[in-house]
Amino acid sequence: MKPVVDVVTLLFFGLIAVVSANSVVKRDVFVPKITNPHLGTILEVGQKYNVTWDTDNAPAQITNPLGQIIFAQDGRLVGLDHPLTANFSILKGWEEITVPFVETDFDYAVVLIGDSGNFSPNFSILNLNRPIPL
Ligand SMILES: *[C@@H]1O[C@H](CO)[C@@H](O)[C@H](O)[C@H]1NC(C)=O
Ligand SMILES: *[C@@H]1O[C@H](CO)[C@@H](O)[C@H](O)[C@H]1NC(C)=O
Ligand SMILES: *[C@@H]1O[C@H](CO)[C@@H](O)[C@H](O)[C@H]1NC(C)=O
Repeated sequence: MKPVVDVVTLLFFGLIAVVSANSVVKRDVFVPKITNPHLGTILEVGQKYNVTWDTDNAPAQITNPLGQIIFAQDGRLVGLDHPLTANFSILKGWEEITVPFVETDFDYAVVLIGDSGNFSPNFSILNLNRPIPL
């Protein structure tokens, strides 16, 4: 009987470990990782695309469940007062944006703001109506 008890004890303590690990995660601020657009993505001005992010590690309690997506260039937020889109559930995992009419460049990003803010990797935007800067 002894080995069985040991296995049960091990399982019991294993369960406690998993539960405590989970409660630690649940207290964390949700910092969703943007999966699209990513490095190497080329978007075209005026077109609609989905911004997608990972919701796997979302905590049970989120301080601010509503998200907004802000445009950024050169690592800086552009138009904080004019989000590309807002008021969607941060747990949705995707949201459609229309690419603003900006110059062709390769250092654009989007920032997903909810509980916290998170930059996407830099991506490119192609403006076919403007000459490509060389
Ligand atoms: C974004 O994703 C949704 C859900 O998968 C889909 O219905 C929609 O067509 C997508 N939009 C674009 C622009 O791809
Ligand atoms: C995006 O580009 C800007 C300017 O080159 C740089 O400061 C920033 O660190 C880059 N962001 C990422 C996630 O690589
Ligand atoms: C989001 O909701 C707030 C409050 O209801 C509103 O003031 C704002 O205009 C909304 N923004 C968008 C982009 O829908």
